[in-house]
Amino acid sequence: MSTTITITGAGGQIGYALLFRIAAGEMLGPGEKIRLRLLEIPQGLGAAEGAALELQDGAFDLLEHVEVTDDAAVGFDGCNVALLVGARPRGPGMERADLLAANAGIFGPQGTAIAENAAADVRVTVVGNPANTNALIAASAAEGVPVERFTALTRLDENRARAQLAQVLEKPVSSIRFVPIWGNHSATQFPDVSHATVDGRPVLDALAERVGDVRRWLDETFIPRVAKRGAEIIEVRGSSSVASAASATIDHVRDWVLGTKECTSAGVVSRGEYGVPEGLVSSFPVNFVDGNWRIVEGLEIDDWSRARIDASVAELIEERDAVRALGML
Ligand code: NAD
Ligand code: LMR
Repeated sequence: MSTTITITGAGGQIGYALLFRIAAGEMLGPGEKIRLRLLEIPQGLGAAEGAALELQDGAFDLLEHVEVTDDAAVGFDGCNVALLVGARPRGPGMERADLLAANAGIFGPQGTAIAENAAADVRVTVVGNPANTNALIAASAAEGVPVERFTALTRLDENRARAQLAQVLEKPVSSIRFVPIWGNHSATQFPDVSHATVDGRPVLDALAERVGDVRRWLDETFIPRVAKRGAEIIEVRGSSSVASAASATIDHVRDWVLGTKECTSAGVVSRGEYGVPEGLVSSFPVNFVDGNWRIVEGLEIDDWSRARIDASVAELIEERDAVRALGML
């Protein structure tokens, strides 16, 4: 048995950062054979074909087969894990929502192709921005595929949040736990430290010793730093994050398929949990158990947090309404 993994935009930057780590077994573990399908548009085929040659030269024990195609029916044929990366990235001065019209047209047809061609157990992770709303579009177009099979990547935001806390607390990242992201993968997201721990101790207590007025530090330093990190990377490196995005994608899929005891973050379809309107793809605190995600329920949300979650959810509603108005939903 082997797992068939489809990567759209495989000829692009994130695709290149993903392929070799997947082939080395970092996503599904060292015992799982892999078949890769690299789906591109015609202009991207050369880069994807070049990557396929390099995959061959990597002589990866786990890699059984690589196929490069610009035909979605071939690309998603028998696919168990779909990574929807292919989309236009934003440049300096743009917000991710500016990509809505440019990228929304990609995800409906891909959702349909997944429904028609993928394996019954397909698990889809949308990376291409705006990721939450693209996941909503793909899920809506994938008739017959349970919406639970579609997720949007917000693990990068969580990784950024944990890394920022580790830095200010001068602790290893591994000591920081339970830092869920709520809402949209955008500047309105809410990285939530209210239940976070460092070495088992409340992060809020540890922060009080370091930064004094914790609420003020969260509002003025931490939340903007995490929420605008994508823009910071674009400004500093001249194009959007690549290796960290690929790494977070691997973390997300590994946890989804193999399970984790940790509370982590993913954009998943709301059933009305925590007052998020049903049907929106919002980031929530989740657990991955037995190959499925579950929203962590029963967390206490104070008024300060509620306002920040609501603001991000309001943006998701706006994005949904905008794609509806474009006739893409
Ligand atoms: P890139 O421009 O280097 O690569 C994108 C690739 O997608 C190109 O090779 C292009 O030919 C291909 N493509 C375009 N339309 C396609 C289609 N319909 N089917 C298949 N392939 C298609 O961009 P990148 O740096 O790899 O970024 C890809 C996307 O990921 C962007 O939307 C970016 O904003 C997003 N991103 C998301 C996160 C996140 O955390 N969710 C993080 C970083 C980047
Ligand atoms: C990121 O968070 O780095 C990506 O979503 C790219 C971007 O546009 O910010």
